[in-house]
Amino acid sequence: MDAIDILINEHVYIKKVLSAIEDDCIKLSEGKDADPQFYRKVIEFVRGYADKYHHQKEEKKLFNILAEADDNLKRGPVMGMLLEHDLGRSYISSLEIAVEDYEKGDKSKKAYIIANALIYAEMLKKHIEKEDSNIYMLSRRIIDSETQKDLKNEFDEIEEDEANKKIREKYTAFADSLIKS
Ligand SMILES: [Fe+2]
Ligand SMILES: [Fe+2]
Repeated sequence: MDAIDILINEHVYIKKVLSAIEDDCIKLSEGKDADPQFYRKVIEFVRGYADKYHHQKEEKKLFNILAEADDNLKRGPVMGMLLEHDLGRSYISSLEIAVEDYEKGDKSKKAYIIANALIYAEMLKKHIEKEDSNIYMLSRRIIDSETQKDLKNEFDEIEEDEANKKIREKYTAFADSLIKS
């Protein structure tokens, strides 16, 4: 397992939650009441796992290596990926506000829950596809073996940290509880 495999494996769990969001949004659009507790757990997963655990590995490690390797990559695909991470954070903040207002009794906010949750899930699914099929493959091709080894060691350190182990176990169990692969 190399550093890229670790990232691809994290995508598997993120995609499970994204599919669960899409399934729930379809039910909401068909008339089901929103379950604020479900969305609070989803928001916690996104912030604790997708963003803090996974995106940090990309933003602080892999993407920096790609940006340093090639200026065109820095201004093109890397910039695009970073913008999409930020866009995701913005949708999740709007989702959080909609869930809070819905819970306070403003049922019209269901439309905003659906809009923000669904666009987030759709955007991040496409983002993950681009990384899996393009950015990560490119990384394997252009990053020299010494740097790849260093990256793997850095990721292993993150993976083996006791606090991170707990984060990983908690959130992968949550993803598994929603959709079994
Ligand atoms: Fe990403
Ligand atoms: Fe990713």
